[in-house]
Amino acid sequence: MSEIRPIQWSDGKLWLLDQTRLPLEEITLELDRYQQAIDAIRDMQVRGAPAIGVTAAYAMAMAAREISATSPDEYMSELEGAASRIAAARPTAVNLFWAVQRMVSLAKSEPDPLGMPERLLAEAQRMYQEDEEINRKMGGLGKDLLPDGGAVLTHCNTGALATTGFGTALGVIRAGWEAGKRFKVFNTETRPFLQGARLTSWEFQQLGIPATLIVDSAAGMLMRRGEIDCVITGADRIAANGDTANKVGTYSLAVLAKENGIPFYIAAPTSTIDLNLATGDDIDIEERPSQEVTHFQGTPTAPEGVPAVNPAFDVTPHRYISGIVSEGGVSRSPYLESLKLAVGSGASGA
Ligand code: MRU
Repeated sequence: MSEIRPIQWSDGKLWLLDQTRLPLEEITLELDRYQQAIDAIRDMQVRGAPAIGVTAAYAMAMAAREISATSPDEYMSELEGAASRIAAARPTAVNLFWAVQRMVSLAKSEPDPLGMPERLLAEAQRMYQEDEEINRKMGGLGKDLLPDGGAVLTHCNTGALATTGFGTALGVIRAGWEAGKRFKVFNTETRPFLQGARLTSWEFQQLGIPATLIVDSAAGMLMRRGEIDCVITGADRIAANGDTANKVGTYSLAVLAKENGIPFYIAAPTSTIDLNLATGDDIDIEERPSQEVTHFQGTPTAPEGVPAVNPAFDVTPHRYISGIVSEGGVSRSPYLESLKLAVGSGASGA
């Protein structure tokens, strides 16, 4: 099996596997201007917190080569303008801001415009490499949480497509499977964008891991029948107290898991942990267009004119979370302490 690579840099261009077209078509987008990367993030042609972060880093590298100013002050002010535009592409995944900030800090540490595009590109490449390494490490740490036998449920898409490779929660499932554990996998459709049905089902097929698709609302019934032994999802932002924003529907799964005595885990790199936010109440939740709910690929699925709200994420309070896997280890309650330790020993604290 060849690895899925949703993001690639070659010939001075960024190549993105268009995730709005999968699984029906495998189309690669060719980008050479930073505004195109902003559009791709906003339109979810690239999506998933770590993948958004790395794409933003490449967008910064492209912005650096588009700026023609030669004085360091003017150059930096234009670069910071581009940084603000890139950071505004989507609001919830903190990896986006983390990546842009990392690039801005590097640029400020050596503000000479000469060689800036190369310096920023090298940093984006480093972030690209680090992401997969972190995911593989998380897989190694998280696989022991999974049952041998029984069934694991996951939500949204947290695989290679949501990262530069291997994935977070899906990476943990893959690591468990590759280590020889055998369990059933259920994945939700993930209404309304269908990241689960379109992307996760496709990834599991590519990996040769049998996975069964369910509608989001079937999760409770399966849990009550004793057919789920563990739930694991990714995250878009984790507050200092462990409250976690992830794809809408995650909160319901976590509450149902607790009610049914099933462990509920999160897997996310330390770049997703935002120690600046005390609780999940401070997380900015993206509202997406209502057409994503009332239409499927342009075809109406609801009466014309019906109002719909479309919060793309929800927040799961930390009391529902049995553990958070990052490259810094498996953090458990009380998260205020354990997440600080994880960040300190993970990549972003290195
Ligand atoms: O709106 P999306 O598809 O970008 O949301 C993605 C998720 O919610 C993922 O679960 C999360 O980013 C973790 S990805 C490794």
